[in-house]
Amino acid sequence: MNILSPSILSADFTRLGEEIMTVEGAGARYLHIDVMDGRFVPSISFGMPVIASIRKASKIIFDVHLMIEEPVRYIDDFVKAGADIITIHLEACSDVKATLRKIHDGGVKAGLSIKPKTPVESLLPYLEEVDMILIMSVEPGFGGQKYIEDSTERIRLVRAMLTEKGLDTDLEVDGGIHLDNVELVLQAGANVIVAGSAIFGANTEERAVSFMEKLSQRGVSHE
Ligand code: DX5
Ligand code: ZN
Repeated sequence: MNILSPSILSADFTRLGEEIMTVEGAGARYLHIDVMDGRFVPSISFGMPVIASIRKASKIIFDVHLMIEEPVRYIDDFVKAGADIITIHLEACSDVKATLRKIHDGGVKAGLSIKPKTPVESLLPYLEEVDMILIMSVEPGFGGQKYIEDSTERIRLVRAMLTEKGLDTDLEVDGGIHLDNVELVLQAGANVIVAGSAIFGANTEERAVSFMEKLSQRGVSHE
């Protein structure tokens, strides 16, 4: 099943609750929550208190993308704050398997992400251990960047690697996704679509509904 995961990084934080209700009302099943530490990526975003606060406002699935060094240190805190899926970066962990195990021990789903320059083959040892793979289609750190074209081929390769192993794992794509390239990534095999600047801003409801229409028409069913 194709799922829309709007990234609140581009939302209006003075009206965060309303923004979440708008995308949820339009049919988004996940809410993408980008946590940045100023070390793994140059920027700093927000952390546990914001997540715990919006947890009270919505039951939507919290898809938490940790762009932080050694995320294993904070898994329990993010579980407590209300995360439903925690995605870590392969490049940020000294022990990827132990970090994934810690996420599962917390009773939530585990995702594994790679940056655009990390070879897709580096995911191979972990495919059986994850509920979702996240392919970054921009360098992580900021919203509003341009989609890196060779991400399409990387999505295709990862979907083929999963299929080869008989896995129907969710495949998420994040960065530079707009209404005019979403079909491309769906066709390549992604089924969880992150979009920040293409959704939040003016006409949020209309834009989220347009994304949902594209998601319901295209792509292979992975559920
Ligand atoms: C970037 C974040 C993204 C970001 C996407 O590091 O991981 O989730 O919010 O923003 P857009 O959709 O504007 O590229
Ligand atoms: Zn993200």
